[in-house]
Amino acid sequence: MTDSSVIDDEQDVPAEAPAQHADMPDTPDLPDAPDTLQAPDVPEALNAHVAKWSGFLADCGSLAGQINPYQHAGRLTRINGLVMEASGLKLPLGSGCRIMVPGGNSCEAEVVGFNGEKLFMMPTDDVVGLAPGAQVIPLETTPPRPTTTERLEPRRRASDRAKHLPVGDALLGRVVDGAGRPLDGLGPVVTRHSRSVASRAVNPLLREPIRRTMDVGIRSINSLLTVGRGQRVGLFAGSGVGKSVLLGMMARFTSAEVVVVGLIGERGREVKEFIEQILGAAGLARSVVVAAPADTSPLMRLQGAAYATTVAEWFRDQGRHVLLIMDSLTRYAMAQREIALAIGEPPVTRGYPPSVFARLPQLVERAGNGPEGGGSITAFYTVLAEGDDQQDPIADSARAILDGHFVLTRQLADGGHYPAIDIEQSVSRAMHGLVKPSHFDLVRQFKSLWSRYQRARDLIAVGAYAPGSDPQLDLAVNMFPVLETFLQQRMDEREGYEDAVMKLHQLFGATP
Ligand SMILES: Nc1ncnc2c1ncn2[C@@H]1O[C@H](COP(=O)(O)OP(=O)(O)OP(=O)(O)O)[C@@H](O)[C@H]1O
Ligand SMILES: [Mg+2]
Repeated sequence: MTDSSVIDDEQDVPAEAPAQHADMPDTPDLPDAPDTLQAPDVPEALNAHVAKWSGFLADCGSLAGQINPYQHAGRLTRINGLVMEASGLKLPLGSGCRIMVPGGNSCEAEVVGFNGEKLFMMPTDDVVGLAPGAQVIPLETTPPRPTTTERLEPRRRASDRAKHLPVGDALLGRVVDGAGRPLDGLGPVVTRHSRSVASRAVNPLLREPIRRTMDVGIRSINSLLTVGRGQRVGLFAGSGVGKSVLLGMMARFTSAEVVVVGLIGERGREVKEFIEQILGAAGLARSVVVAAPADTSPLMRLQGAAYATTVAEWFRDQGRHVLLIMDSLTRYAMAQREIALAIGEPPVTRGYPPSVFARLPQLVERAGNGPEGGGSITAFYTVLAEGDDQQDPIADSARAILDGHFVLTRQLADGGHYPAIDIEQSVSRAMHGLVKPSHFDLVRQFKSLWSRYQRARDLIAVGAYAPGSDPQLDLAVNMFPVLETFLQQRMDEREGYEDAVMKLHQLFGATP
């Protein structure tokens, strides 16, 4: 059908065009022909039609020009731990390869470095069965298909050559791996759209500032650590203090239209638990889960994080407000460390090579607001920070590149205080511009009473506190049970933004 309409259109155009020339014998020469098509008496619809099909044909032509008529192949010469070496191929960094396993199977790998004539590759799949001398075939990235509705972008950026994975509404309610393959047994993901996993961040000058609040459904965050649309926040915590539960509550209760969850480098068991018990069927319906657990290759874990971000970017570009949850940023950094050390990069800070610290902002900067008036990606990244270890280089680096950090402490969790957010140590850096000054004053009052009590806690415990000597401390002691109840929230309890702010005002007898 498509072909016959092409032919019809091509026949129509010349039939009209010569008639114009016949009326104007002085018309100098053919290069003016396109101008005659613009003349007012040619129907607008015809112009649009011609433009549409000429664009389509031009896209087909340029794609045909990019086809490489020769297929070259190299040979696998060495496997050293995670790194494979191949000779006989010259491929750019980031290219994909297929390594043939005797017996018809194959294994996918990506070029991660080179040294002279040698290419270093890392597998994205299992490498069992590879033999010396195995054939290494470059994988062409599938170019996007030309359509009559949209012109193709010129493919001149590195990201255009990176892997393209499926994006789109069909992913909602699905659980996929780092390569976009379904893990939930619900059949293939059928979508027309695909997108490069290596896209670049939005131009910082075009980004919409963080101006509007984002309701995450958690009382303490909504009222005391207000988060804005497009803000990127780190959730700093040790193991087992309630990160997953808190993220799951946000995913279920948030006002965001779409939730994208990246489960990177965590235990495989946790993936199922998170989806079934924490997210639940209702939460999953408007979520996309990308899971690359600890047993997948480091490359797949990196790709999983990039893919989750790509999916969120696609929804943002459709004008939707997205909540991106990444658990965890530390495991992402560890995957990059595994790769970098394996190809010989020297470790600099606590075993982390420099490329790790370059990778983190590249990933995080892709989240955030889009251009003015568009959608947004509000992101939460978990960062493993055990105890009071402020020296952890990943936590340090994450704190610097994120717009806020919420600290979950074991002391609170051990006391059954959930969510175990330590409001003294936590900061939302965008909050200033989001809430009214009167609201901000109450937050300051709340924090100062809370800290006042914490500092005198030991005195109170040993009975050395005598009421009447310090009015501020007396107030803190009196109000402490109310403040504590205010901060705690059950797993199944949702508290919207308006209600949370109202309750904060009520605590201090103020009106919003
Ligand atoms: N809001 C809450 N109300 C009641 N209990 C909670 C709440 N949040 C967390 N918990 C308890 O804390 C436990 C650990 O939570 P969770 O699995 O979220 O921790 P985690 O930090 O993700 O752990 P890991 O580091 O192992 O991934 C839960 O099993 C639950 O019993
Ligand atoms: Mg967890």
